[in-house]
Amino acid sequence: KTGRIAIVGSNMVDLITYVQIMPKPGETVEAPDFEIGCGGKGANQAIAAARLGSQVSMVTKVGDDLFGDNTIRNFAENGVDTTHVKKVAGKSSGVAPIFVEPSGENSILIVKGANADLSPADVDAAEDMLRQADLILLQLEIPLETVAYTIRRAAEWGVRTILNPAPATKELKVSDISSLSFLVPNESELELLSGMPTTTEEEIVAAARSLIAQGIGTVIVTLGGRGARLVTADDVKVIEAVKVKPVDTTGAGDAFIGSFAHFLAATGDVEQSLNRAARYAAFSVGRRGTQKSYATAAEFEEFCKSLSASE
Ligand code: RIB
Ligand code: NA
Repeated sequence: KTGRIAIVGSNMVDLITYVQIMPKPGETVEAPDFEIGCGGKGANQAIAAARLGSQVSMVTKVGDDLFGDNTIRNFAENGVDTTHVKKVAGKSSGVAPIFVEPSGENSILIVKGANADLSPADVDAAEDMLRQADLILLQLEIPLETVAYTIRRAAEWGVRTILNPAPATKELKVSDISSLSFLVPNESELELLSGMPTTTEEEIVAAARSLIAQGIGTVIVTLGGRGARLVTADDVKVIEAVKVKPVDTTGAGDAFIGSFAHFLAATGDVEQSLNRAARYAAFSVGRRGTQKSYATAAEFEEFCKSLSASE
Protein backbone atom coordinates (compact mmCIF):
# COMPACT_ATOMS: atom_id res chain seq x y z
CA LYS A 1 0.00 0.00 0.00
CA THR A 2 1.37 3.41 -0.91
CA GLY A 3 0.29 6.35 1.19
CA ARG A 4 -0.85 9.74 -0.01
CA ILE A 5 1.18 12.52 1.52
CA ALA A 6 0.49 16.22 1.03
CA ILE A 7 2.85 19.00 2.00
CA VAL A 8 1.76 22.59 2.56
CA GLY A 9 5.17 24.18 2.84
CA SER A 10 8.30 25.83 1.55
CA ASN A 11 10.86 25.27 -1.15
CA MET A 12 14.30 26.87 -1.26
CA VAL A 13 17.45 26.68 -3.29
CA ASP A 14 20.30 25.68 -0.98
CA LEU A 15 23.61 27.40 -1.64
CA ILE A 16 25.96 25.27 0.44
CA THR A 17 29.51 26.40 1.18
CA TYR A 18 31.77 23.84 2.87
CA VAL A 19 34.09 25.89 5.11
CA GLN A 20 37.25 25.15 7.07
CA ILE A 21 36.59 28.18 9.29
CA MET A 22 33.74 30.70 9.35
CA PRO A 23 34.71 34.32 8.58
CA LYS A 24 34.36 36.86 11.39
CA PRO A 25 32.72 40.25 10.64
CA GLY A 26 35.06 42.25 8.38
CA GLU A 27 37.11 39.18 7.49
CA THR A 28 37.47 37.36 4.16
CA VAL A 29 38.40 33.69 4.14
CA GLU A 30 38.58 31.11 1.39
CA ALA A 31 36.39 27.99 1.50
CA PRO A 32 37.30 24.76 -0.29
CA ASP A 33 33.92 23.73 -1.75
CA PHE A 34 30.46 24.80 -2.86
CA GLU A 35 27.30 23.03 -3.98
CA ILE A 36 23.90 24.19 -5.12
CA GLY A 37 20.84 22.00 -4.72
CA CYS A 38 17.13 21.93 -4.00
CA GLY A 39 16.11 22.42 -0.38
CA GLY A 40 13.52 24.09 1.84
CA LYS A 41 11.94 22.14 4.68
CA GLY A 42 8.64 21.45 2.90
CA ALA A 43 10.24 20.35 -0.35
CA ASN A 44 12.82 18.24 1.47
CA GLN A 45 10.16 16.32 3.35
CA ALA A 46 8.22 15.86 0.12
CA ILE A 47 11.25 14.45 -1.70
CA ALA A 48 12.10 12.02 1.11
CA ALA A 49 8.56 10.57 1.10
CA ALA A 50 8.46 10.44 -2.71
CA ARG A 51 11.84 8.67 -3.06
CA LEU A 52 10.55 6.00 -0.69
CA GLY A 53 7.47 5.47 -2.87
CA SER A 54 4.65 7.55 -1.39
CA GLN A 55 2.25 9.44 -3.65
CA VAL A 56 3.24 13.01 -2.83
CA SER A 57 1.61 16.32 -3.70
CA MET A 58 3.12 19.70 -2.86
CA VAL A 59 1.33 22.99 -2.16
CA THR A 60 3.98 25.72 -2.47
CA LYS A 61 5.01 28.92 -4.28
CA VAL A 62 8.12 29.63 -6.32
CA GLY A 63 9.41 32.88 -7.80
CA ASP A 64 9.42 33.72 -11.50
CA ASP A 65 13.13 33.08 -11.84
CA LEU A 66 15.46 30.25 -12.93
CA PHE A 67 15.41 28.82 -9.41
CA GLY A 68 11.62 28.47 -9.58
CA ASP A 69 11.73 26.57 -12.87
CA ASN A 70 14.47 24.34 -11.52
CA THR A 71 12.45 23.58 -8.38
CA ILE A 72 9.37 22.61 -10.39
CA ARG A 73 11.49 20.35 -12.61
CA ASN A 74 13.04 18.76 -9.52
CA PHE A 75 9.61 17.94 -8.07
CA ALA A 76 8.52 16.40 -11.35
CA GLU A 77 11.72 14.33 -11.68
CA ASN A 78 11.12 12.92 -8.22
CA GLY A 79 7.50 12.04 -8.96
CA VAL A 80 6.01 14.81 -6.78
CA ASP A 81 2.70 16.16 -8.11
CA THR A 82 3.11 19.86 -8.98
CA THR A 83 -0.54 20.74 -9.68
CA HIS A 84 -0.51 23.07 -6.67
CA VAL A 85 2.93 24.61 -7.19
CA LYS A 86 2.34 28.22 -8.23
CA LYS A 87 4.68 30.86 -9.63
CA VAL A 88 4.55 34.37 -8.15
CA ALA A 89 5.19 37.18 -10.64
CA GLY A 90 7.81 39.69 -9.58
CA LYS A 91 9.10 37.66 -6.62
CA SER A 92 12.29 35.71 -6.18
CA SER A 93 12.28 32.08 -5.14
CA GLY A 94 13.27 31.16 -1.61
CA VAL A 95 17.02 30.74 -1.11
CA ALA A 96 19.13 29.41 1.74
CA PRO A 97 22.84 30.28 2.02
CA ILE A 98 24.26 27.45 4.17
CA PHE A 99 27.69 26.95 5.74
CA VAL A 100 28.84 23.46 6.64
CA GLU A 101 31.81 23.06 8.99
CA PRO A 102 34.26 20.13 8.97
CA SER A 103 32.31 18.56 11.89
CA GLY A 104 29.24 18.30 9.59
CA GLU A 105 27.46 20.99 11.63
CA ASN A 106 25.69 23.74 9.67
CA SER A 107 24.55 27.38 9.91
CA ILE A 108 21.63 28.43 7.70
CA LEU A 109 20.26 31.77 6.53
CA ILE A 110 16.87 31.69 4.85
CA VAL A 111 15.30 34.20 2.50
CA LYS A 112 11.64 33.17 2.13
CA GLY A 113 10.94 34.91 -1.21
CA ALA A 114 7.74 33.55 -2.79
CA ASN A 115 7.17 31.20 0.18
CA ALA A 116 5.98 34.25 2.14
CA ASP A 117 2.99 34.46 -0.26
CA LEU A 118 1.54 31.00 0.41
CA SER A 119 -1.90 31.86 1.79
CA PRO A 120 -5.06 30.19 3.14
CA ALA A 121 -6.57 30.78 -0.34
CA ASP A 122 -3.89 28.47 -1.79
CA VAL A 123 -4.95 25.83 0.74
CA ASP A 124 -8.58 26.27 -0.33
CA ALA A 125 -7.55 25.87 -3.97
CA ALA A 126 -5.94 22.53 -3.11
CA GLU A 127 -8.80 21.32 -0.89
CA ASP A 128 -9.90 18.38 -3.07
CA MET A 129 -6.38 16.93 -3.06
CA LEU A 130 -5.74 17.69 0.64
CA ARG A 131 -8.96 15.99 1.76
CA GLN A 132 -7.81 12.75 0.15
CA ALA A 133 -4.40 12.72 1.80
CA ASP A 134 -3.48 10.24 4.54
CA LEU A 135 -1.27 12.87 6.14
CA ILE A 136 -0.60 16.58 5.66
CA LEU A 137 2.91 17.81 6.57
CA LEU A 138 3.71 21.38 7.61
CA GLN A 139 6.73 23.41 8.77
CA LEU A 140 7.23 27.12 9.57
CA GLU A 141 8.84 28.57 6.44
CA ILE A 142 5.45 29.84 5.19
CA PRO A 143 3.09 32.30 6.93
CA LEU A 144 1.90 31.04 10.33
CA GLU A 145 -1.64 31.99 9.38
CA THR A 146 -1.52 29.44 6.56
CA VAL A 147 -0.10 26.76 8.85
CA ALA A 148 -2.84 27.32 11.47
CA TYR A 149 -5.55 27.43 8.81
CA THR A 150 -4.43 24.15 7.25
CA ILE A 151 -4.31 22.36 10.61
CA ARG A 152 -7.79 23.60 11.47
CA ARG A 153 -9.30 22.58 8.12
CA ALA A 154 -7.57 19.20 8.16
CA ALA A 155 -9.18 18.43 11.53
CA GLU A 156 -12.59 19.22 9.99
CA TRP A 157 -11.83 16.87 7.10
CA GLY A 158 -10.56 14.14 9.43
CA VAL A 159 -7.08 14.21 7.86
CA ARG A 160 -4.10 13.76 10.19
CA THR A 161 -1.44 16.47 10.34
CA ILE A 162 2.27 16.55 11.21
CA LEU A 163 3.91 19.88 12.13
CA ASN A 164 7.65 20.39 12.35
CA PRO A 165 7.77 23.79 14.15
CA ALA A 166 11.01 24.86 12.47
CA PRO A 167 12.61 27.29 12.20
CA ALA A 168 11.76 28.16 15.81
CA THR A 169 9.59 31.23 16.34
CA LYS A 170 8.05 32.93 19.36
CA GLU A 171 5.03 33.88 17.24
CA LEU A 172 3.58 30.37 17.17
CA LYS A 173 0.89 29.78 19.80
CA VAL A 174 -0.28 26.34 20.94
CA SER A 175 -3.90 27.47 20.62
CA ASP A 176 -3.31 27.98 16.85
CA ILE A 177 -2.33 24.34 16.36
CA SER A 178 -4.23 22.49 19.08
CA SER A 179 -5.98 20.11 16.66
CA LEU A 180 -2.63 18.84 15.39
CA SER A 181 -2.09 15.05 15.29
CA PHE A 182 1.72 14.96 15.54
CA LEU A 183 4.14 17.70 16.61
CA VAL A 184 7.83 17.06 15.84
CA PRO A 185 9.97 19.70 17.60
CA ASN A 186 13.60 19.65 18.73
CA GLU A 187 14.43 20.66 22.32
CA SER A 188 14.59 24.40 21.71
CA GLU A 189 11.40 24.46 19.62
CA LEU A 190 9.66 22.48 22.38
CA GLU A 191 10.92 24.93 25.01
CA LEU A 192 9.69 27.94 23.04
CA LEU A 193 6.25 26.46 22.39
CA SER A 194 5.61 25.10 25.89
CA GLY A 195 7.35 27.87 27.82
CA MET A 196 8.92 25.11 29.93
CA PRO A 197 12.57 24.02 30.36
CA THR A 198 13.76 21.05 28.25
CA THR A 199 17.21 20.29 29.66
CA THR A 200 16.59 16.90 31.29
CA GLU A 201 14.64 13.83 30.12
CA GLU A 202 11.96 14.52 32.77
CA GLU A 203 11.61 18.15 31.66
CA ILE A 204 11.28 17.11 28.01
CA VAL A 205 8.48 14.69 28.82
CA ALA A 206 6.70 17.24 31.05
CA ALA A 207 6.94 19.96 28.37
CA ALA A 208 5.62 17.59 25.70
CA ARG A 209 2.72 16.50 27.96
CA SER A 210 1.78 20.13 28.61
CA LEU A 211 1.15 20.44 24.86
CA ILE A 212 -0.79 17.18 24.78
CA ALA A 213 -2.95 18.54 27.62
CA GLN A 214 -3.79 21.47 25.32
CA GLY A 215 -5.04 19.20 22.54
CA ILE A 216 -2.04 18.07 20.48
CA GLY A 217 -2.19 14.32 19.80
CA THR A 218 1.38 13.04 20.01
CA VAL A 219 4.72 14.81 20.47
CA ILE A 220 7.91 13.42 18.93
CA VAL A 221 10.94 15.26 20.31
CA THR A 222 14.08 15.02 18.20
CA LEU A 223 17.36 15.12 20.14
CA GLY A 224 20.01 14.92 17.39
CA GLY A 225 22.70 12.42 18.40
CA ARG A 226 20.54 11.23 21.32
CA GLY A 227 17.74 9.99 19.08
CA ALA A 228 14.11 10.96 19.66
CA ARG A 229 11.37 10.51 22.25
CA LEU A 230 7.83 9.49 21.35
CA VAL A 231 5.62 11.07 24.01
CA THR A 232 1.91 10.38 24.50
CA ALA A 233 -0.31 11.18 27.50
CA ASP A 234 0.62 7.97 29.29
CA ASP A 235 3.74 6.61 27.60
CA VAL A 236 7.28 7.51 26.50
CA LYS A 237 9.26 5.49 23.97
CA VAL A 238 12.95 5.98 23.23
CA ILE A 239 13.86 6.05 19.54
CA GLU A 240 17.58 5.26 19.39
CA ALA A 241 19.89 7.35 17.22
CA VAL A 242 21.72 5.53 14.45
CA LYS A 243 25.46 6.22 14.59
CA VAL A 244 27.17 7.36 11.40
CA LYS A 245 30.18 9.58 10.75
CA PRO A 246 28.61 13.01 10.07
CA VAL A 247 29.52 14.55 6.72
CA ASP A 248 26.69 17.05 6.24
CA THR A 249 23.71 17.26 8.61
CA THR A 250 21.77 19.72 6.41
CA GLY A 251 18.22 18.46 5.95
CA ALA A 252 18.64 15.43 8.26
CA GLY A 253 15.62 16.54 10.30
CA ASP A 254 13.56 16.78 7.11
CA ALA A 255 14.72 13.31 6.03
CA PHE A 256 13.49 12.04 9.41
CA ILE A 257 10.05 13.65 9.13
CA GLY A 258 9.42 12.99 5.44
CA SER A 259 10.37 9.34 5.79
CA PHE A 260 8.36 9.01 9.02
CA ALA A 261 5.29 10.23 7.12
CA HIS A 262 5.94 7.68 4.37
CA PHE A 263 6.35 4.75 6.77
CA LEU A 264 3.41 5.83 8.92
CA ALA A 265 1.06 6.14 5.94
CA ALA A 266 2.22 2.74 4.68
CA THR A 267 2.13 0.78 7.97
CA GLY A 268 0.17 2.73 10.61
CA ASP A 269 2.79 1.82 13.25
CA VAL A 270 4.16 5.02 14.83
CA GLU A 271 7.06 3.59 16.83
CA GLN A 272 8.32 1.31 14.07
CA SER A 273 8.01 4.16 11.55
CA LEU A 274 10.14 6.40 13.78
CA ASN A 275 12.83 3.75 14.12
CA ARG A 276 12.98 3.42 10.35
CA ALA A 277 12.99 7.20 9.96
CA ALA A 278 16.04 7.41 12.26
CA ARG A 279 17.89 5.09 9.86
CA TYR A 280 16.72 7.08 6.84
CA ALA A 281 18.02 10.31 8.40
CA ALA A 282 21.35 8.65 9.31
CA PHE A 283 21.90 7.70 5.66
CA SER A 284 21.55 11.39 4.70
CA VAL A 285 23.95 12.60 7.41
CA GLY A 286 26.69 10.45 5.89
CA ARG A 287 26.46 12.27 2.55
CA ARG A 288 26.87 15.77 1.24
CA GLY A 289 23.94 17.93 0.19
CA THR A 290 20.33 18.19 1.24
CA GLN A 291 17.87 16.32 -1.03
CA LYS A 292 20.86 14.93 -2.88
CA SER A 293 21.66 12.88 0.21
CA TYR A 294 18.20 11.27 0.51
CA ALA A 295 17.99 7.56 -0.26
CA THR A 296 15.63 5.89 -2.68
CA ALA A 297 13.71 2.87 -1.38
CA ALA A 298 16.37 0.53 -2.85
CA GLU A 299 19.31 2.49 -1.39
CA PHE A 300 17.55 2.53 1.96
CA GLU A 301 17.09 -1.26 1.95
CA GLU A 302 20.81 -1.72 1.20
CA PHE A 303 21.75 0.70 3.99
CA CYS A 304 19.56 -1.13 6.52
CA LYS A 305 21.20 -4.43 5.53
CA SER A 306 24.67 -2.93 6.05
CA LEU A 307 23.60 -1.62 9.47
CA SER A 308 22.32 -4.97 10.66
CA ALA A 309 25.45 -6.69 9.27
CA SER A 310 27.68 -4.38 11.36
CA GLU A 311 25.67 -4.92 14.56
O1 RIB B 1 15.99 21.86 7.09
C1 RIB B 1 16.97 22.14 6.13
C2 RIB B 1 16.51 23.21 5.21
O2 RIB B 1 16.36 24.40 5.92
C3 RIB B 1 17.46 23.53 4.09
O3 RIB B 1 17.21 22.77 2.93
C4 RIB B 1 17.25 25.01 3.85
O4 RIB B 1 16.65 25.27 2.63
C5 RIB B 1 16.40 25.48 5.02
O5 RIB B 1 15.11 25.71 4.64
NA1 NA C 1 23.31 15.27 4.05
